[in-house]
Amino acid sequence: MPAERITSTTLAAMKRRRDAIACLTCYDAAFAGLLESAGVEVLLVGDSLGMVLQGQPTTVPVKLEHMVYHSACVSRAAARSLVIADMPFLSYATADRALAAAERLMGDGGAAMVKLEGGGELAQTVARLTRFGVPVCAHLGLLPQSVHRLGGYRYQGRDDAGAARIRADALALQDAGASLLVLECVPAALAQALAGELDMPVIGIGAGSGCDGQVLVLHDMLGLLPGRSPTFSKDFAAAYGSVAAALAGYVAEVKERSFPGPGHTLY
Ligand code: KIV
Repeated sequence: MPAERITSTTLAAMKRRRDAIACLTCYDAAFAGLLESAGVEVLLVGDSLGMVLQGQPTTVPVKLEHMVYHSACVSRAAARSLVIADMPFLSYATADRALAAAERLMGDGGAAMVKLEGGGELAQTVARLTRFGVPVCAHLGLLPQSVHRLGGYRYQGRDDAGAARIRADALALQDAGASLLVLECVPAALAQALAGELDMPVIGIGAGSGCDGQVLVLHDMLGLLPGRSPTFSKDFAAAYGSVAAALAGYVAEVKERSFPGPGHTLY
């Protein structure tokens, strides 16, 4: 990991060098230190904390206050890694609300980038955020905050129309100023094609090994939720034996592009 603080510029340079980006979710200071020591470049304070920390059934009940609190815990301990905070459900339903949420997540939470779920309908909001100095990570494919509309956690972009929609959304968000894209649960071939086409780095989760980097939910990859981890994840603690070894193993497998393997990929 570079000695200086990681920014979207660092990640763009890594993409150009084909140096894979390692990202994990992180919700507290203790793990922020461990992840950074293991070489994880991006710490995502995901609203998955609603499910893995709070025991909620979905991410929908997560509030801005929760995200600010956990972002601050992580930011205080992260000296070099890029800290991204999720904007919770409906906190970016208008551009004004998004600016107010970003003010809290960056000002009080110490995050250096915010992430929001959705496609081209968010282009104006993304443009407004970036115009005011807020770096934005987009999130396409499976959108967990839309689980009630989607009717469940399902792979997206499996047919031509769905794939074309994701591609158009990605281009619209990049044009609007997004500097990073999380692509969740889409076919590996689509993710690889998008990573090749887009200038912004693409971080995959359940999207195959052809992305510019990978992210997993920390509690899934440490095997802390037996029987509840998605099939695209891997229990690195079981494979490597300790938390520190699991984190180092994850970073190594992402960097050498051996994770995700065929068993963790749709097609
Ligand atoms: O909230 C989260 O943890 C996320 C990841 C699944 C990418 O958005």
